[in-house]
Amino acid sequence: EKVPVTLEINGVKQKLSVEPRVTVLDLLREQLNLTGTKKGCDYGQCGACTVHIDGTRVNSCLTFAVMQDGKKITTIEGLAAGEELHPMQEAFIKHDGFQCGYCTPGQIMSAVACIREGHANSEAEIREYMSGNICRCGAYPNIVNAILEVKN
Ligand code: FES
Repeated sequence: EKVPVTLEINGVKQKLSVEPRVTVLDLLREQLNLTGTKKGCDYGQCGACTVHIDGTRVNSCLTFAVMQDGKKITTIEGLAAGEELHPMQEAFIKHDGFQCGYCTPGQIMSAVACIREGHANSEAEIREYMSGNICRCGAYPNIVNAILEVKN
């Protein structure tokens, strides 16, 4: 049985009807067609599904939509200001912070949180904070460089 949930997603308040077992990740991708947020593992191991909920980064595969009633969710689709990319998106392009791109939305959402939460003071600190975001192409050095550029 579906239950009512109100969420503000990328600045737009939405009244939704969701089954209690639906994760935020599946709600975004399947019900709202916001497919920028990726499903890698679906059990909290890869970071591809990272979004911000009330400004904090969250693995969206690990939380049920009904638990987030009333919260603000930002996905990769909500990061740019209109046609203008977010500085972190620009930096990922400039530094080649990706190859296949599958992990990139999650990497960028974590990277933005990394700076906002004050964990981008050194390469080691960045690598520690970003360690939950797996990149099978191994773009890690470039991702760190992108974060350092936005930080500085
Ligand atoms: Fe959520 Fe991998 S899909 S951590």
